[in-house]
Amino acid sequence: MTRTASNGHRKKRTAREERAAYHEPFFQTDDGRVKIFHQDALQFLRSLPSASVDVVATDPAYSGMNQHLQLGSGRIIGKYENKGKEGSKWFEEFHDTEENYAAFLNECFRVLKDDRHIYIMFDSFSLLTLAPLVRNVFEVKNLIVWDKVNIGMGHYFRRRHEFILFATKGKRHLTSHRIPDVWRIKRVAAFKYPTQKPVEIFEAMLAGSVEDDFVICDPFLGGGSCAIAALNKHCKFIGCDISESALKTCAERIKIYKTIGHDKLQPKSLLLDDEDYSWLKPNGKLI
Ligand SMILES: C[S@@+](CC[C@H](N)C(=O)[O-])C[C@H]1O[C@@H](n2cnc3c(N)ncnc32)[C@H](O)[C@@H]1O
Repeated sequence: MTRTASNGHRKKRTAREERAAYHEPFFQTDDGRVKIFHQDALQFLRSLPSASVDVVATDPAYSGMNQHLQLGSGRIIGKYENKGKEGSKWFEEFHDTEENYAAFLNECFRVLKDDRHIYIMFDSFSLLTLAPLVRNVFEVKNLIVWDKVNIGMGHYFRRRHEFILFATKGKRHLTSHRIPDVWRIKRVAAFKYPTQKPVEIFEAMLAGSVEDDFVICDPFLGGGSCAIAALNKHCKFIGCDISESALKTCAERIKIYKTIGHDKLQPKSLLLDDEDYSWLKPNGKLI
């Protein structure tokens, strides 16, 4: 199959473009409850029917912070200019211009059913630049702090937290009144996917927002922690990533988790022994 490039030449479609053209999943579980796609987030959301998703829970690849701080000199995590290339620890980023971000939010709004929830993760740079745009589209209800317990790297101050913005399309209460807006959950120390988030962070997002069989959507899948959380909460899942290596990692993770219950990317719980998580794991069972 070919396409016409801007210079008028006919070019062969890449495997990703070919799959995207037919909206063919990169991987799906035998029961069809989990489907992941090799696509750009905006392109993927545009391919979904309106009002087909119950919760969006996502951790976008913001470019702003990295460009602003010119991170990735190569000392610790490889060269930033090699992002998206095979073997690089930096992944391709979503170009988070205000225009792109507004288009992304509008698509999230369109695919969500009425009276549903959206959770979007933000670092402090994107929180100040992009989060205000969420108000133009959704009703912003809370800003949740993820306390990662242990400090990480940082510019001036060492970072120990991230933000999760919670907003609604229409009106829907949380299923519990006991959920705090600070979540103390350890970061993934020996991550197997760059910026891999704890499954429990996504479970916390879903805790007050889902019913069995709800469709959860994460258009910036990464290693697939949101997909594992959706499975734990008895939900269906759809998601995408622009990176083939993310899709491979994620497909293998889900396959193994579904068959033997082992999470290859996060074998242990990242919850703390001295914290009350009864709102998160009501039966007290920590995975
Ligand atoms: C912050 S990571 C997500 C990490 C994930 N939450 C986890 O726990 O593993 C963001 C992901 O977005 C992907 N990405 C970057 N640009 C994208 C785009 N335009 N569309 C879809 N995915 C994109 C990157 O490849 C990366 O895997």
